[in-house]
Amino acid sequence: MTDYNKMANGGLAQLKPYQAGKPIEEVQRELGLTEVIKLASNENPYGMSPKAMAAAKRAVENCHFYPDANGYYFKQALQNKFGYDPACITLGDGSNELINLIFQSFVNSSVNVVLPELSFIVYPMEATVAAAEIRTVPLKDYFVDTKALLAAIDDNTRMVVLANPSNPAGTAIPIGELHEFVRQVPEQTLVVIDEAYNEYQTGPYEDTATWIDECPNLMVCRTFSKAYGLAGLRVGYMVSNPEIASLVNRLRAPFNVNAVALAAAVAALEDEAHLKMVVEGNNRERERYEAYCSERGLFMIPSSANFVAVDFKCDSAPIYDFLLRRGVIVRPVKGYGLETVLRISIGTPEQNDRLFAVLDEYLKA
Ligand SMILES: Cc1ncc(COP(=O)(O)O)c(C=O)c1O
Repeated sequence: MTDYNKMANGGLAQLKPYQAGKPIEEVQRELGLTEVIKLASNENPYGMSPKAMAAAKRAVENCHFYPDANGYYFKQALQNKFGYDPACITLGDGSNELINLIFQSFVNSSVNVVLPELSFIVYPMEATVAAAEIRTVPLKDYFVDTKALLAAIDDNTRMVVLANPSNPAGTAIPIGELHEFVRQVPEQTLVVIDEAYNEYQTGPYEDTATWIDECPNLMVCRTFSKAYGLAGLRVGYMVSNPEIASLVNRLRAPFNVNAVALAAAVAALEDEAHLKMVVEGNNRERERYEAYCSERGLFMIPSSANFVAVDFKCDSAPIYDFLLRRGVIVRPVKGYGLETVLRISIGTPEQNDRLFAVLDEYLKA
């Protein structure tokens, strides 16, 4: 019999399939529960802007036409809000696709890729498929160690990729340190900053995408899946210098972002009040998680995102199971000896109350 594994490109056959968070319906079915909440995939519990919803519904009526392959109005909306030149933008079917396109465009089996430990799972997956050497750099107290990343880069490093804030740790690199890091990466090494959770950061802020003139090797990926609440519609974008954008765009399928998603994203960008409500709601609840953990002597990794990672300092599998059986889906962290950590997406106040109550039940038992 033919061994199709042998026919697969690069390191594809070595990959373990991606495990998405358990869907609510599956848990309801398997455990016979009616009330299930999912705090596992860092989704936005407040939903999308009502203006985005209305725009999406209007766009559905014209879905017998192909979408605008270049996302003209979307790029205009990004320019109006952030000042980006449309020539610097690449559209993505979520930022996940952008990461995929970036690896396909630049990474191969004769180069290495530098990643922080505990990276978003898609980066090592893509590097493995490309059969590139992966250099993994340990974190420092759960924070990306920019000095150690720089030290790991050599003449053969094609790319360094990091999420800021990171996932699953949730920590953010101080903006001054990040800028200094990007400046110091040699120009022949590309730097990808994945900002899926950018909007939830607090503290001093600079728009990293404005650094591309100074640092032409920088690529910044963003998504509408988190703070904008469009995860199911799939919209992301990358800001880079136009030459990089032009290359990645050649690989991109022309209609990778559908018309409904584009219309919703334009309206979502314009609805600043909704975004503010979402971010403020999340960050208030994040403080409640901090208080909850500190009152119970639990270690919560400092989070700048819409999720928290709690290190229980013991095997977290029984805690995960206990929560699941009571209808609360969270996500265990895998690898790097962190089987003690559960990642919990921050929900609405009511959802978080439920998580706190069930976790208290476990802690008391
Ligand atoms: C760090 C990071 N990057 C990218 C993504 C992909 O998001 P999307 O493809 O929905 O834009 C995620 C999703 O959870 C993420 O955590």
